[in-house]
Amino acid sequence: MEKVPRIQIADDPAQLAHAAAGFFLGIVKTAVSRRGCSFVALSGGKSPRGMYRCLVESPYRESVPWTHLHLFWVDERCVPHTDGASNFGAARENFLKTLPIPPAQVHPMPTDPGSEDAASAYETALKKTGALIWDGLPCFDLILLGLGTDGHTASLFPGDAGLTEETRWVLPVRGGTPYLDRFTLTFPVLNNADHIVFLVTGADKAPIVKQVLEGGEEPSLPAGRIQPVRGEVTWLLDRQAASHLETKSRIP
Ligand code: 6PG
Repeated sequence: MEKVPRIQIADDPAQLAHAAAGFFLGIVKTAVSRRGCSFVALSGGKSPRGMYRCLVESPYRESVPWTHLHLFWVDERCVPHTDGASNFGAARENFLKTLPIPPAQVHPMPTDPGSEDAASAYETALKKTGALIWDGLPCFDLILLGLGTDGHTASLFPGDAGLTEETRWVLPVRGGTPYLDRFTLTFPVLNNADHIVFLVTGADKAPIVKQVLEGGEEPSLPAGRIQPVRGEVTWLLDRQAASHLETKSRIP
């Protein structure tokens, strides 16, 4: 039976950002207390930026065990890190540049378009950094995902061949808005995480949020296929993004 995702609805993007920062802090601290390190994969797009701004401020700045954190990316556009479309570039500017994460523990995705070797090299980086391996796959403590209005997540777009990948961890793909060459983690890796948190804001996402969470039919949309094997999924939504949902569980 499919696990029921937790849905938490914030009054506004600012409350959502703090809730996301709280999840980030709690999950990373627990992992570090258990294993001495934590592995997190970040998504791109605009949705995580509020959380980034919280994490560089008190109380998160001084509470997150940054020096024990390994950061990877869920997906990346094949553009220079200085390009406004770069997921790593946005994280570096909004978040990383002022935090004491050892550079060797920050793992941007490759940006060489279509390169299978680059995809394999990212898999190797994951293996070499000591990510926990469950069932032969890396087990991230936390994966942060966004949701596109077409139901994509990561850079797994509706109709893409990458949706059926069952063995490779990282794929070169092309798609999205902007339409670009990209790299993405695959469903086997995403669904092997301990905690998956979707961050979704804005009225434009309300229809797709309802379709993914209350659509009922067989999960045909990529975001609907995020069903972790052992872990749990939490949807952090602001009121606008949740406005078409029947369920109204609010953040306390
Ligand atoms: C990407 C993202 C992508 C994003 C969604 C939502 O690189 O495009 O990882 O999956 O999370 O498109 O984007 P917004 O947060 O900007 O709405």
